[in-house]
Amino acid sequence: MILIIQVQYADGKTYWAQPSNLRKVVKPAKRIITAETTRQYREACLRYVNPDDICLEVGCHEGVTTAMVQRRCKTIVGVDLSDVTIQIARQKFPQVRFVVVSGDNVEVLKGLSPTGEYDKIMLDIGGIAELPAVMHLVGLYYRTWKNSTLIIKSVFFSRLLEDTEMYKPQEASVSKAAINAAAEREKRREQESSVEYE
Ligand SMILES: C[S@@+](CC[C@H](N)C(=O)[O-])C[C@H]1O[C@@H](n2cnc3c(N)ncnc32)[C@H](O)[C@@H]1O
Repeated sequence: MILIIQVQYADGKTYWAQPSNLRKVVKPAKRIITAETTRQYREACLRYVNPDDICLEVGCHEGVTTAMVQRRCKTIVGVDLSDVTIQIARQKFPQVRFVVVSGDNVEVLKGLSPTGEYDKIMLDIGGIAELPAVMHLVGLYYRTWKNSTLIIKSVFFSRLLEDTEMYKPQEASVSKAAINAAAEREKRREQESSVEYE
């Protein structure tokens, strides 16, 4: 016997589904997720994409990741600066939208979204693409689409973040030390003055 349950989406629509086909919606803790390998990158894309998401993949190549994500989101467009790979992607996945455009052409990218916004932006211009090229695009997307989650495949960007520590200001402990020292001075002064009167 197959168990089927009724599921209600946030927009009120209801669907019948097998529980084994249901996926938990996972909200990433940070705005940027990095991956070093294609396998990790695809896993991250599929893990964080939601049925209501408007998605963009920059550096879609022949469209494999774009097509995988397309099945799990509302809409996606894959872009690449190579028209040869875009032609192949269109042949392989005719149901998916692919466009030839460079990843730094933000105005064109905005126009490819029905709202001008993206929930998820996936960036893969090559796992060992030069760090400045990756960071340039990450910076552009981070500033342009403030509500987007970015999923980045880059060995160098991942390692840079791994080697990064956010400096935590020390004021709190300094002022605590200062308070202790002041209390100590006050105590000593009191002791000295009580000695004078004895
Ligand atoms: C490793 S492949 C991407 C593989 C694809 N993401 C996948 O999962 O199957 C890198 C692609 O990035 C494209 N690319 C490199 N620089 C780019 C840029 N500035 N804008 C758009 N695409 C770029 C290349 O043409 C190439 O097709």
